[in-house]
Amino acid sequence: MTTVFIATGNAHKVEEIRAVLGGPGRVFLCQQDAPVRLEPEENGSTFRENARIKALTWATYLAIDVCNMGVQWVLADDSGLEVDALNGAPGVHSARFAALDSGRPGNSPDSENNAKLLRLMDGIIPERRTARFRCALALTPVLAGLDAAAMAAGTRDFDGVCEGRLLAQPSGAGGFGYDPLFVPQGWDRPFAELGAEVKNQLSHRARALAALRAGWV
Ligand code: IMP
Repeated sequence: MTTVFIATGNAHKVEEIRAVLGGPGRVFLCQQDAPVRLEPEENGSTFRENARIKALTWATYLAIDVCNMGVQWVLADDSGLEVDALNGAPGVHSARFAALDSGRPGNSPDSENNAKLLRLMDGIIPERRTARFRCALALTPVLAGLDAAAMAAGTRDFDGVCEGRLLAQPSGAGGFGYDPLFVPQGWDRPFAELGAEVKNQLSHRARALAALRAGWV
């Protein structure tokens, strides 16, 4: 039995990861199963750095004998949207895009992030509304003895990208985040309308998870 701890408080991410990686012999725990709330500061300048910060913070906690819960691996996801017309913004600030203006700490509601994005994209023609989702996964072994350097050295990175374009109006009720605005390449409806089954075949996260599955134990 392999027990993996998914280091995110985002229930949608947990659901997508479980849907793609789940199978016999694998148990997934997540932050809700832990008796503490760790909130690592995501101050990296890349998705990969932030995924590693989250994975290593939780692995260090779970490496303490009494905290372990049977976990052998920590899996962290850092992801976001890059919009060409905005020079790659919101990028690593995707979760707190709206709060960048107000200075409020923490993440912003999806509705506020989407509203800000639509405002900035107002008047931009369809051909220039290209964007992509990126996902960085960090998979860290939980090693007894609290050897943070060994856990960092043993961490493996997997990336996924999904190209697409942005609508001028949100549409659909599925998914989360920017899903009501993002139409993946080759489709004519946003992720929020396409549903979980399609999203889990072609999203940035699905692609990073496929790479992980191929290169894992
Ligand atoms: P993180 O939890 O710090 O990695 O922030 C991820 C943010 O990027 C989310 O809050 C969303 O705004 C956005 N994002 C990442 N993945 C997706 C996705 O699959 N659909 C829609 N938005 C996403």
